[in-house]
Amino acid sequence: MKVLVIGAGNMGLTYATGMSRSKLLKKRNIMVLDKSKEKMEEVGKIAHFDAMERLEDCVPKADIIFLAVKPYHAEELLGRMKELVNPEQLFISIMAGVTIKYIQDALGIKKVVRAMPNLPAQVGKGLTSYVSAEEVSRLELFMTEGLLDTTGKSLRVKSEKYIDASTGISGSGPAYVFYFMQSMMEAALQMGFSENVSKVLVSQTFTGAVELFNQSNLTPDSWMERVASKGGTTRAALDSMQDNNVSELIKEAAFAAFNRAVELGEEY
Ligand SMILES: NC(=O)c1ccc[n+]([C@@H]2O[C@H](COP(=O)([O-])OP(=O)(O)OC[C@H]3O[C@@H](n4cnc5c(N)ncnc54)[C@H](OP(=O)(O)O)[C@@H]3O)[C@@H](O)[C@H]2O)c1
Repeated sequence: MKVLVIGAGNMGLTYATGMSRSKLLKKRNIMVLDKSKEKMEEVGKIAHFDAMERLEDCVPKADIIFLAVKPYHAEELLGRMKELVNPEQLFISIMAGVTIKYIQDALGIKKVVRAMPNLPAQVGKGLTSYVSAEEVSRLELFMTEGLLDTTGKSLRVKSEKYIDASTGISGSGPAYVFYFMQSMMEAALQMGFSENVSKVLVSQTFTGAVELFNQSNLTPDSWMERVASKGGTTRAALDSMQDNNVSELIKEAAFAAFNRAVELGEEY
């Protein structure tokens, strides 16, 4: 099986690198193509990829084609690929907001998977939600999941609406966590800690809390109850968040991302 990744940016290279470690593919069965010369020079230095220069040389040879360019490049790229593709090929798109139907119509094919990754894919801890056109077979779905899992976990969702919804939670979510981290680091600095110490205090707190959560069946609410005793320090902080409606504001933010994802999807 040959895989072609088009777009050697952050995400394209993340997937290409993840897949190169996968047992699903033989070495040198990953072709990578980018229109930027600089990026291709970088790709050429990576031994386990075949750096490709022209769509004509690689698109017809590929069984699976990853579309990893920015959405505003979709029209131009798909237009150039149309004459080179065939209906047996599987297309996995990570282009935010670009619908399955748009890709099917632009390429004149049916087998499309639309996926929404997130940034931690770069360190093998990503979450990629995905949905497929009904023409994608069970075996192809199995392959897709195997390939997506090489950058973390994958989650199959029922419809494209849930791709937009997962954009609001896991896609944009890492930034919400960074927002919280930034605020806690600023508080630590104001309390007199150095930047380095603030970073350790905050990062280990996040890692530890997530690990506790992952290793138990407790909900975040139950964990909060365990940490906060009446009249204590944690209760003071949680009460302050409650009084300031922080929970509602976070939900509002997640819905803002979800709604924006829907809006962007309307363009494609
Ligand atoms: N980064 C994330 O966290 C994230 C999360 C979810 C989804 N996504 C999606 O992932 C996709 C890729 O994002 P990214 O951050 O990796 O983008 P990126 O760093 O801009 O990489 C895209 C690459 O594709 C190249 N390219 C554009 N048109 C091309 C064409 N016709 N043929 C070959 N190469 C072409 C670009 O070259 P130029 O720079 O010269 O244009 C660029 O090197 C986007 O659609 C984005 O919506 C990203």
